[in-house]
Amino acid sequence: MKIDENTAVAQPQDTRESVTFGGDRNKDFSQEPLCLSGRGVTRVFHTGKTTTVAVDHVDFDFHKGELISIVGESGSGKTTLSKMLLGLLEPSEGEIFFKGEPRDISTSAKKKEYWRGIQAIFQDPFSSYNVFHKIDSVLLDCINMSGGRNLSKDQKTAMMTEACSFVNLKFAELTNKYPFELSGGQMQRLMIARIFLLKPEILLADEPTSMIDACSRATILDMLLNLRNETDMTIIFITHDIGLAYYISDSVYIMEHGKFVESGKADQVILYPQAAYTKRLISDVPKIHEPWDLSTV
Ligand SMILES: Nc1ncnc2c1ncn2[C@@H]1O[C@H](COP(=O)(O)OP(=O)(O)OP(=O)(O)O)[C@@H](O)[C@H]1O
Ligand SMILES: [Mg+2]
Repeated sequence: MKIDENTAVAQPQDTRESVTFGGDRNKDFSQEPLCLSGRGVTRVFHTGKTTTVAVDHVDFDFHKGELISIVGESGSGKTTLSKMLLGLLEPSEGEIFFKGEPRDISTSAKKKEYWRGIQAIFQDPFSSYNVFHKIDSVLLDCINMSGGRNLSKDQKTAMMTEACSFVNLKFAELTNKYPFELSGGQMQRLMIARIFLLKPEILLADEPTSMIDACSRATILDMLLNLRNETDMTIIFITHDIGLAYYISDSVYIMEHGKFVESGKADQVILYPQAAYTKRLISDVPKIHEPWDLSTV
């Protein structure tokens, strides 16, 4: 499957038939086991005299193997919610459930165990690596974390080579380099190579394609969908781009000012939007087949 810049911004109805979606579009994920849920999840920030309710009492149910997009404009609370899902930030209120049970990450051992199940690709790949660790050790850590500590050196090298080639990187060219010696696009691909090795149950991708060109962006999305198909991973995809969300997702949650204003199956939410905010997001998508009206500019 290829998603390029044109299909990603096209009007959903126009090209719907031509898109080969990574999964089974009609699958009912509500029958699958629960992976991650939240009830009343809230995060308030206090800075000086200002109080910001970044995430405001959100409820969600993400199922095994489901690809969920969380869509909203800048500042709507998407990254704050991701940090809470990852356990990097405590909710001020509400509760997160992992596989149906209240999530317990109260000790560092429990946190480590939780992170075996959930991994992320961040908006800014530069912040995701320890700059003093060479790329080999970034990938070796993944093999060790996923139970491969006792494998031979050759086996580990073969796994790292496979993971790099999965994302079109050459392991031989990366060994002995530091993360800051890579381009933004290479770093993002390295992040996906890590996921390939770790094979978490849940992958959270916060605008993972923000730093790369349209062509690499399509390739990366393709890789994410391949990963999902190969491993039955649950993918939570965070984006501004409702057109892209429509093409890749099973379910969509629309976020405005920290609240989910609408959620459901991607077809339902995007083809038959109910909330005014969703309608506006959809109408903001450039329509490539319509002439541009510049008279209002
Ligand atoms: N550490 C913090 N301290 C104070 N306010 C914060 C903090 N982190 C986020 N906020 C505020 O919370 C709100 C939501 O921010 P968040 O980063 O979650 O938005 P976002 O949807 O990810 O935006 P973007 O699409 O630009 O990445 C914003 O008003 C932001 O200023
Ligand atoms: Mg963000």
